[in-house]
Amino acid sequence: MLRSKIIATGMYVPPRVVTNNDLAGIMDTSDEWIRQRTGIEQRHWAADDSSTSELAFEASKKALENAKMDKSQLDMIILATLSPDHEFPGTACFLQRKLGVPGIPALDVRQQCTGFIYAMSIADQFIRTGMYRNILVVGAELQSKGLEKNDNGRDVAVLFGDGAGAVVMTATEVKDPKKDPHVLSTHLYADGTFAEELWVAAPGSANSADRIGGDDLEKKLHYPHMNGKLVFMNAVKRMPEALETAFKQNGITMEEVDLFVFHQANLRINDMIAKQFGIPEHKVFNTIQKYANTTAATIPIGLDEAVRAGKLKPGMLVASAAFGSGFTWGSAVYRF
Ligand code: COA
Repeated sequence: MLRSKIIATGMYVPPRVVTNNDLAGIMDTSDEWIRQRTGIEQRHWAADDSSTSELAFEASKKALENAKMDKSQLDMIILATLSPDHEFPGTACFLQRKLGVPGIPALDVRQQCTGFIYAMSIADQFIRTGMYRNILVVGAELQSKGLEKNDNGRDVAVLFGDGAGAVVMTATEVKDPKKDPHVLSTHLYADGTFAEELWVAAPGSANSADRIGGDDLEKKLHYPHMNGKLVFMNAVKRMPEALETAFKQNGITMEEVDLFVFHQANLRINDMIAKQFGIPEHKVFNTIQKYANTTAATIPIGLDEAVRAGKLKPGMLVASAAFGSGFTWGSAVYRF
């Protein structure tokens, strides 16, 4: 049975650490408010001359190194981000140029917080069909340049951080599905009814005369706007639904899963899901305390940190789920 598997992980965060107290120095917020509501203690912000593709490049180099794979063996790059280097071309093209692998397809995925699950699913399909063998799958975000860092934007600005995570996925012949590393299944969802509940309106072709112009900047349309409570309510409903579908499809139980690597939007969201399913604390790997929400990068960062912390070992059964802007959501179950 031809399947895909993750053979290596890598991550990168820029060196500058921004604590909650640092934010309290530039906007009306507090360490206590942020910690209590979200679990976030600090995040990393990139330098002004950095870019999403640069963070992606650093994470990708580590993933390739850990895979002991030469970049020339890659058949495709898939990069998920909501903070692209430029409007176009896609950031995957800039990453491809940095890696020095011209010719292979480079695809951007724009599914925000669910971006990595979508990217992983796309890679899985290409590998299952036999079209490609080795795919670099990356989630990378440089959020800090797109946040409104003052009292007006405080509800969103405190939540996000910069960083990148990458995995190398490769084709594998699965003989024993109970033991052999492989992606069991991925499950993708979206509901555009809620598109404006968490979004950046400009620049965009749906705006009146220019993609950005008129009073768009004064109206702050180029900053993210979020209905936090609605996002929260939907996340705690949709992520468990997506997980249950994955377990049902594969005939596995929650207890069989060795590690849960969820998207990192809010520690309270992940705690509520764990409680709902009775998942013991040690089986949920969270990184939001250190990195905040790095959107498409949270899951690959979580995987890489878990590997380096000795919590994720070959043969373990892993479940991931994510929810975010779109609304989009999804899940993946894979033996590592
Ligand atoms: N610091 C201090 N106060 C803040 C603040 C900040 N950074 N941001 C908002 N507030 C204030 C608001 O102005 C509001 O004040 P008011 O009651 O006087 O109007 C109050 O805090 C809101 O507090 P509360 O109702 O307790 O907020 P909450 O419990 O809904 O928590 C979020 C807010 C954003 C943490 C929460 O809704 C959330 O995590 N939502 C999901 C967000 C998410 O996942 N986004 C990423 C997409 S995956």
